[in-house]
Amino acid sequence: MTRLLRDAMSHFATGVTVVTTHFEGQDFGMTCNSFSTVSLEPALVLWSIRKESLSHLAFTNRTNNGGGYMVSVLASHQQAVAMQFTHGTQADRFHNVPVERSPSQNPRVSGAVAWFDCQLEQVVTAGDHDILIGRVVDFGSHEGESLVYSQRHFGTFKPL
Ligand SMILES: Cc1cc2nc3c(=O)[nH]c(=O)nc-3n(C[C@H](O)[C@H](O)[C@H](O)COP(=O)(O)O)c2cc1C
Repeated sequence: MTRLLRDAMSHFATGVTVVTTHFEGQDFGMTCNSFSTVSLEPALVLWSIRKESLSHLAFTNRTNNGGGYMVSVLASHQQAVAMQFTHGTQADRFHNVPVERSPSQNPRVSGAVAWFDCQLEQVVTAGDHDILIGRVVDFGSHEGESLVYSQRHFGTFKPL
């Protein structure tokens, strides 16, 4: 069932993001494609994190200004960054990845086509994941092709 469900879900093409946070003096980051917009007024977004993720506490705590995270939407040339943020120690993940820091201290990946700095609004528990709803407190974007993920492959978007 799980395997078949994952196969079916893999047909839903998404963008690719790296979500990051700064917790107890350390940067945390992971590749994420569950990112989505929820509401425009107020500006709310969400993504979901596996409950067993080693960085679960870093993303769900409310210590730094009530908690929060940064979402960096990767550009088409950042496939290696996407892979780097799926495994290894947190120090390994950030190794050789230039970042810029928001006032909230959350790092954003340089060269990302868009970014959203979010304050943690709500944690909704849902099966083996938690849904992290965030309020967008700052954001930016620039021209460029986004990285796309579909059927377990990275690619780029080609207009018809
Ligand atoms: C394209 C892609 C998208 C991913 N999206 C998510 C996601 O939305 N939520 C999640 O918990 N893990 C996601 N992962 C897996 C995490 O990146 C990976 O499990 C995590 O970085 C492992 O580190 P951790 O044990 O510190 O959590 C994704 C992986 C890939 C390759």
